[in-house]
Amino acid sequence: MAGEDAVMATNDDAAQCKRFAVEKGYWQDPYISLLVPKGKANHAPEINKGYYARVTSIRILIQKFVETTNRECQIVSLGAGSDTTYWCLKEQGLNPKSYIEMDFLAVTSRKCQQIKNKKALLDKLATEDGDIMWSKSEVHAGDYHLVSADLRQLSEVVKKLSDCGLDRSLPTLFMAECVLVYIDVKYTDQLIHWISENVPTAMFINYEQVNMGDKFGQVMIDNLKTRDCYLHGVAACQSLQTQKDRFINQGWTGASAIDMLSVYTHLPQADVQRVEKLEFLDERELLEQLYSHYCLVWAHQDPTNVGLKDLSLY
Ligand SMILES: C[S@@+](CC[C@H](N)C(=O)[O-])C[C@H]1O[C@@H](n2cnc3c(N)ncnc32)[C@H](O)[C@@H]1O
Repeated sequence: MAGEDAVMATNDDAAQCKRFAVEKGYWQDPYISLLVPKGKANHAPEINKGYYARVTSIRILIQKFVETTNRECQIVSLGAGSDTTYWCLKEQGLNPKSYIEMDFLAVTSRKCQQIKNKKALLDKLATEDGDIMWSKSEVHAGDYHLVSADLRQLSEVVKKLSDCGLDRSLPTLFMAECVLVYIDVKYTDQLIHWISENVPTAMFINYEQVNMGDKFGQVMIDNLKTRDCYLHGVAACQSLQTQKDRFINQGWTGASAIDMLSVYTHLPQADVQRVEKLEFLDERELLEQLYSHYCLVWAHQDPTNVGLKDLSLY
């Protein structure tokens, strides 16, 4: 479909930016260099700092979710791309019972190959009997599943989740890091609604654009258009309120949303000070503009009070 290649290419961009920032020392990730080839480009300090805030804040929320549920939980990463969270959590002893990654077939096929070829990645996939089921584009190991699906096709998504053995009675974290913005809200609404109806104890972490109705937002939309990349889901990215409403309107109990400027003030300040010294910024205006156009949203539903209501970045 037109534009799909460009959407998949956004994963390469994100992955390259993350690898570059890791090599600069912004955060630790011993696995990223195994999944992401070294890029040629240098990235500006603003970009590195933006990724730092994104990755660090999402990691904090994931860790809180896993600890709150005593690891009796599942994580589903929608549009996972080259993400390394499964391996990083495992390294820290914070792995959930099951971790499911979903993306377009071309993306999962490549990740499949990379996992197969890298012993350090392969060794972390737990199995009870040593068996891992591989196809060209999918992996099913004991606690790790990588499957292909188009997130716009709800029946396909539901079938793949069931192939992965998703236990709808377990607390489940769904995350979408810079993914929903590429998908028309009629499809993301459907997906968010299905989760609300079918996975009673759930959390959703969504990271993506916000305040897209202004000039800066329009420039971002226009720049991406020139690369045949369309932000079909931008209607939900108008404000922090529209970001929260997309969950509440689909049946979730509560939702919080803060822009990345505020996120930055809620990150562990000793680490922020360390990171501030890594690279010098000529002026903060661009960073502040960038930060005010991205947000972190977390939503919950928790009928048996396992503690998701109180789970927050701060
Ligand atoms: C910007 S990348 C983010 C990757 C990863 N979440 C991260 O933050 O590092 C967006 C990802 O969403 C995936 N994606 C977008 N629309 C999708 C759809 N309709 N179905 C499946 N995956 C999709 C893309 O293929 C890509 O891997």
